[in-house]
Amino acid sequence: MAEPSSAPTGPTPEVLTAVESDFTSALDHARGNGEALQRLRSEYFGPKGRLTGLLRSVGQLPPAERRDAGQNTNKLKQKLEAGLTEAIEAQEQAAREAELKSGRLDMSLDGRLNRPQGAFHPVTRVIREMTDIFARMGFSVATGPEVETDGYNFEALNFPPDHPARDMQDTFFVRPPDARAIKALVLRTHTSPVQIRSMRAQGAPIRVISPGRVYRCDEDRTHSPMFHQIEGLWVDEGISLAHLKGVLTSFVTALFGERGMRLRPSFFPFVEPGVEVDIQCVFCGGSGCRVCKHTGWMEILGAGMVHPAVLENCNIDPERYTGFAWGLGADRIAMLRWQIDDLAHLFRSDVRFLGQL
Ligand code: DAH
Repeated sequence: MAEPSSAPTGPTPEVLTAVESDFTSALDHARGNGEALQRLRSEYFGPKGRLTGLLRSVGQLPPAERRDAGQNTNKLKQKLEAGLTEAIEAQEQAAREAELKSGRLDMSLDGRLNRPQGAFHPVTRVIREMTDIFARMGFSVATGPEVETDGYNFEALNFPPDHPARDMQDTFFVRPPDARAIKALVLRTHTSPVQIRSMRAQGAPIRVISPGRVYRCDEDRTHSPMFHQIEGLWVDEGISLAHLKGVLTSFVTALFGERGMRLRPSFFPFVEPGVEVDIQCVFCGGSGCRVCKHTGWMEILGAGMVHPAVLENCNIDPERYTGFAWGLGADRIAMLRWQIDDLAHLFRSDVRFLGQL
């Protein structure tokens, strides 16, 4: 069988010129139209495309013609493809710009991964707020250890060993590393030992507050084995119960707004006289409700004039100096502040609860 003379569809220079001019006018029509451009791509360069077919037909040419025909066809293919790619890129770029201009793409929208935003814990918030209030009245901040000696936690605060006043605070005792060197260690039951530490370190006059964690062997809806207190202490010449009342009135007003406050006599071994401070119920405003047990009042802190024996324990002359001190539960303040009915919510770290505050 004779070899076919050059097939009419083969890549002769005439055919290539014709393909190029067809392509160029098709490209001009398709420009700016994404779908038309893709159609053009498959019409010319897809598996059944015209240029693909021409390249395939090179193999059927007489051997002498194959080289030139192959090179010419490839060159044309590259040229046309480059033109097409350029047109596609221009079209995509224009489409992106049009979308931005149309305003349908809102660049200010949150991302899909909308992470919940963290916040300070309510107890941290009230401690910071209270610290700010007292800082404005000239108090500085002191801290002390949470594992405390019996001496600082009780004895120097005028709780003698085996005194029944110790029963007010259910204590976690810690086994001391060396029982001969340290008599007894406790998880501090209150922040009051920081009074002793501060007075011994600084002497009088002194004005400090001390926020921190304290521990008691106690647990129910309003008690937790770990909780937070803020201690306050002001010792100077001529300090009286009137100063105590003035400072605490400013504090209560700053925290809860204008409301009634009263002092009731009470007992703490490290003060004389000792008082408990009540404020008008933050839930009912004083008319009486379930939370205040229909009294209209709620207790917020213990306070008193620093006992002369405590001043002496700290080498401060009780004839010259007097002072007052108070201690309050920060968790309880947070509960009043946000009307939380169960203390345990504060320690569960449930974001559904924390997010409501
Ligand atoms: N430390 C006492 C307690 O935890 C509270 C207290 C009462 C502190 C009277 C004081 C104070 O500084 O003067 O129950």
